Amino acid sequence: MKRSIATIALSLTVAVTGAPAFAQSADPGKIAELQRTLAGNQKARPSGAKGQCFTGTFTPAAEAVGLSKSAIFAKTSRVLARLSVGGGNPKVADATKAVNRGLSFRIDNGGSAETEFVMVNAPINFVKSPDQMLAFLQARLPGADGRPDADKIKAFTDANPETTAQGRYLAGKPVPGSWVGVSYWGIHGYTLTNAAGVTRLVKFKMVPVGGEVGLTDDEARGKPADFLVDDMKARIGASTAAFDMIVVFGRPGDEATNATQQWPDEDQRPTTRLGRLAITALEKNETCDERIFDPLNLADGVAGPTNDPLFTARQPAYAASFGQRN
Ligand code: HEM
Repeated sequence: MKRSIATIALSLTVAVTGAPAFAQSADPGKIAELQRTLAGNQKARPSGAKGQCFTGTFTPAAEAVGLSKSAIFAKTSRVLARLSVGGGNPKVADATKAVNRGLSFRIDNGGSAETEFVMVNAPINFVKSPDQMLAFLQARLPGADGRPDADKIKAFTDANPETTAQGRYLAGKPVPGSWVGVSYWGIHGYTLTNAAGVTRLVKFKMVPVGGEVGLTDDEARGKPADFLVDDMKARIGASTAAFDMIVVFGRPGDEATNATQQWPDEDQRPTTRLGRLAITALEKNETCDERIFDPLNLADGVAGPTNDPLFTARQPAYAASFGQRN
């Protein structure tokens, strides 16, 4: 049954206000549904709609074993990865500055230790909670004239100024000239637990082995709409089609559950390299489309922030989106 935008918006409001048990957490399935509505109800993902599937390998660094007992750090594993361009438009030009780039990957060392990360090329997210995400989307619903209401968006932004920080971060950086020429962040505070039971708070970051590849705005304007896949075809096989996985360590008092903020002096803190992700071949997109990349799927020894409703909403939102796009 088709429902109008107004009906969806109304049912979303009811879902939020009428959920006494967990009032701080909007229904992830409804969020995904609203994302899809705003993206024009197409078959593609409503976020990271444009992308390419790849295979690769993850080779752990010796230091990783002392920090995490996860089996992904025991030996080299195979990887399925998807590199994407943010937003719900599957035809977005690859050189668009205002949207993020995504790196999703599943490390699989034989079935017992699948671990998945879904990262973007910014250290912060644009919302800190499912409720704020829902309100962000609702503010962008078209009005009676079928167009977004600039006043409504401004009122939301004025009341939620932190939701502009990710956009400002991206606007201040060069346009990525390659999917493997930019850093990606896990954003959430994760914990690593080693065999002795010692647990450390960390943030994950994937750093391009070949360094940053950035385009000026002029260079970006000259790029073909789909240059990122061609760039990958040219780079695969070279040592630079790879990322180092590093962790930044948390300190007592660090906020682990506000994805719109970095930790104080996060970029200056000591880091440890946990391994290297190499992208080794293009894969047909159907392989990446037949399951979600699931941020909750973490082998023992790596854990996400289960007290952060933004983190825990992601898997159910992706699962709902998977159902809606199939
Ligand atoms: C409540 C918070 C969030 C919601 C509701 C949400 C929702 C979604 C949905 C519905 C999809 C499409 C999934 C699919 O159809 O397979 C998606 C994809 C994606 N999201 Fe999120 N998201 C959230 C937070 C985040 C955060 C914090 C990040 C970055 C750290 C992120 C990065 C991505 C990426 C990279 C993709 C593309 C996945 C792929 O390549 O398959 N999302 N998101």
